[in-house]
Amino acid sequence: MSNSNDPILNKLFQDSNTYIEKALDVNKEEFIKVVQSRRSVRIYNDEQIVESDMLQCLELSLLSANSSNLQPWEFYWVRDENKKIKLIDYCLGQPAAKTAQELVVCVARPDNWKKNTQLMLDMSKHKEIPKAVSTYYNKIVPLAYNQGLFGLFGLIKKISTYFIGFTRSIPREPTSISDMNVWAHKSTALACQTLMLSLRAFGYDSCPMEGIDSHKIKKLLKLPKRAKICMVISAGKRADNGVYGKRFRLPKDRFIKII
Ligand SMILES: Cc1cc2nc3c(=O)[nH]c(=O)nc-3n(C[C@H](O)[C@H](O)[C@H](O)COP(=O)(O)O)c2cc1C
Repeated sequence: MSNSNDPILNKLFQDSNTYIEKALDVNKEEFIKVVQSRRSVRIYNDEQIVESDMLQCLELSLLSANSSNLQPWEFYWVRDENKKIKLIDYCLGQPAAKTAQELVVCVARPDNWKKNTQLMLDMSKHKEIPKAVSTYYNKIVPLAYNQGLFGLFGLIKKISTYFIGFTRSIPREPTSISDMNVWAHKSTALACQTLMLSLRAFGYDSCPMEGIDSHKIKKLLKLPKRAKICMVISAGKRADNGVYGKRFRLPKDRFIKII
């Protein structure tokens, strides 16, 4: 049960929830195999990706965790031959693009938060969605993601949260246009990882690329200025010499901090 001191989100959701979804049993060993065998592949062989596999992997990526379930992403599977040739050029002719069977441009859409909020609200009218959900999208989402004209509302939020933060915990971001870019990139990058792991689980390989001409790719896809290219993901089956070397990482205690 919530009490009056609980943050607003807890009050909104926890009392009313009656939904039960049991956790499925999963095969840990198979998952470890997928994660460990995903490598950035720079040279692919001639084997094609089955169309339905590619579509399923793309659809699985849409199940990724994402901020406020606003799904601030788009995935352009570029199949048109002429566009593909241009895209390879805009991936700077990297072998990971040149030899790929398929190329997907992963786009972060910070600008879509309002449109997707409305779509979520429209959807909630036709489904049995708790009232708390519509309250969330009607009240909290606009407050959190609207930055106002020239980011002015964001600035006001930044100043107010600074002072409110002295007396209680409060979300600090996003309070600017660039925070919104980070916001959208975070969720999009998670979906990118799901796409790459899905491809591996289906027996394929991938390579994420940010060594790209994002400006030209945006023009190719006719994207607006506010859209941001998160990365391009190439896919196919690895050639025998497709992985450039044994995988290595810096020592884990540099990154995993148990405090
Ligand atoms: C955001 C991002 C951008 C990357 N850009 C490129 C790229 O442009 N070209 C490339 O060959 N590899 C690129 N990589 C792949 C990394 O070099 C690779 O993930 C890293 O060396 C670790 O190797 P592994 O993926 O095989 O574990 C990129 C990876 C990420 C996550």
